[in-house]
Amino acid sequence: MADFNRIDDAGDLTGKTALVRVDFNVPMADGKVSDDTRLVSAVDTVNALRGKGAKVALLAHFGRPKGERVPEMSLAPIAPAFAQVIGQPVSFYEDCKGEGAKAAIDALDETGIILLENTRYYKGEEKNDPELAAEMAKLGDIFVSDAFSAAHRAHVSTVGLADHLPAYAGKSMERELDALNAALGAPERPVVAVVGGAKVSSKIDLLKNLVAKVDYLVIGGGMANTFLAARGTDVGKSLCEHDLADTAKEIEVNAKAAGCELVLPVDLVCAKEFAANAPNRICSLPEVEADEMILDAGPATVTRIETVMDAAKTLIWNGPLGAFEIEPFDAATVAAAQAAADRCEKGSLIAVAGGGDTVAALNHAKAADRFTFISTAGGAFLEWMEGKALPGVEALKK
Ligand code: 3PG
Repeated sequence: MADFNRIDDAGDLTGKTALVRVDFNVPMADGKVSDDTRLVSAVDTVNALRGKGAKVALLAHFGRPKGERVPEMSLAPIAPAFAQVIGQPVSFYEDCKGEGAKAAIDALDETGIILLENTRYYKGEEKNDPELAAEMAKLGDIFVSDAFSAAHRAHVSTVGLADHLPAYAGKSMERELDALNAALGAPERPVVAVVGGAKVSSKIDLLKNLVAKVDYLVIGGGMANTFLAARGTDVGKSLCEHDLADTAKEIEVNAKAAGCELVLPVDLVCAKEFAANAPNRICSLPEVEADEMILDAGPATVTRIETVMDAAKTLIWNGPLGAFEIEPFDAATVAAAQAAADRCEKGSLIAVAGGGDTVAALNHAKAADRFTFISTAGGAFLEWMEGKALPGVEALKK
């Protein structure tokens, strides 16, 4: 694991201000935070810094305002929401640089907390503009990066500030990096990756990277149809990227060469329409009718996945195995997620998951809480699974 400074290395911070990049890009419904996971994940960092005597000035983005002051993308409503989560007053200031922001920080009590306005209100943020970085850096004495989920962005608040201030990983960043390293950096083998979702096209790099690193690669969801079709299975009117048959074949060849076993569905759940409770049947691979679509993996496939999980010591999961948002086509995702969670509880498996729909699918399966670690990241988790260096993590390396 790359060596980076952690908050515990920071020493006494009495009289200092920590500029802390968090990811408060949270879902909202009717002006209220509808999922506070990302707020909760910042609490340990803020409290650890306050415990060392620091004031905490939080930097974050919200949405993609592209350098404009879009009022709907203000972070103002997040300050009271975070205050509730952390059980401390959290003030707000309408800018993230300049004299006004500095005065607002100065006015805080010792160990007070302030949330500054959306960093993406400045065009320079997304360009990692050195002038903006220098301006923003004037607000603090140290830079703490706690937004793994924004670490795939080379922005001022994720990267540029580290050029001006001593940089440390926050507690949530630390947890993410330690868990991800345990899953793919230096994992206990065998390792199984479960990758689902609709399209191979959005995960080509990820699949190519994984076959070189894991012992088993379970492919599910619409993506599996592309692999089955490339092997010559008739997939009827299923979601399938027929034009990616060669890519699928190449991934299979690479897997074989690397000693990675591809685990594709051995049975399927088919229906004639994409709708909840549509009449459906379990069928074997050659039996899909021309007017049917594959909406889930069948029970024999789940049994096969469970056997692989029994052989594995580490599991990494991204994407659902079927159309999990409509019943009963959530069955394979739910069963496999629960099987992984059971093995985590027993202590026979380390299971890490993240990215896009994955957390929703695992929550739906009531399995997320029992996984070893669930990443709060979407795009950053995928880029990490693709084997890319994340600029916001690189910036923290010693
Ligand atoms: C996320 O929600 O995945 C992160 O906050 C990153 O947001 P972005 O894709 O707008 O950079």
